[in-house]
Amino acid sequence: MSRPEGVSISVIKRLPRYYRFLGELKDQGMIRISSKDLSERMGLTASQIRQDLNCFGGFGQQGYGYNIESLYEEIGRILGVNKVRKAILIGAGNLGRAVALHMNFERRGFHIIGVFDKNAALSGQIIRGLPIRHTDGIYDFCKDNSPVVAILCIPSIAAQELTPELVKLGIKGYWNFSHYDIASNFPEVAVENVHLSDSLMTLSYKISNF
Ligand code: NAI
Repeated sequence: MSRPEGVSISVIKRLPRYYRFLGELKDQGMIRISSKDLSERMGLTASQIRQDLNCFGGFGQQGYGYNIESLYEEIGRILGVNKVRKAILIGAGNLGRAVALHMNFERRGFHIIGVFDKNAALSGQIIRGLPIRHTDGIYDFCKDNSPVVAILCIPSIAAQELTPELVKLGIKGYWNFSHYDIASNFPEVAVENVHLSDSLMTLSYKISNF
């Protein structure tokens, strides 16, 4: 994954949270915030915040704090949410529908242009204003529309079969809800795995050790 040189992935993973908090402060009409105030609101230490943001050139000024709007814009730029990336969603079952219907993709720089499922009985049903297409049509659709991201809401075995084709079709980013390990098999693409069960097990650990 490419990122500003020397910036750890753990810092990058904290950026969406900064972005969310700053967006809320911006919506409340706040103009600036000190690292101490931001740290109290976010449950981090002020020095952690300074260290994180210094990785990108340090946006704060001594005695002034951070300008919320410009920090928000800058973090958005680093995350790339100001871009519009064309995405397809594969698997229009329970999970695929929930993801399609409840995520604000546009706000995060993604535009869903196609929904696919191999179950022909679903073809033509509308999700998010888009007709579900049969997976047989993925090849032509990708050739014509050049999506760069795939959201995989399909079983592991289906993802294993489909991913080599998607990589060949130029899909570079995978929001992977399947349990297939794309990253190890295709190191040339960007993968973000989402496993709700991992989060649940982390909660299990936390309550066991509370
Ligand atoms: P579901 O059975 O409701 O939907 C799966 C859909 O995928 C079906 O419509 C099916 O026709 C379609 N499908 C299967 N093979 C396909 C292929 N090769 N190409 C296109 N579409 C295909 O299942 P649900 O609940 O939506 O879950 C989907 C998968 O996501 C499951 O395998 C499950 O293990 C996984 N999952 C992952 C979670 C996570 O946190 N990462 C949470 C819940 C489920």
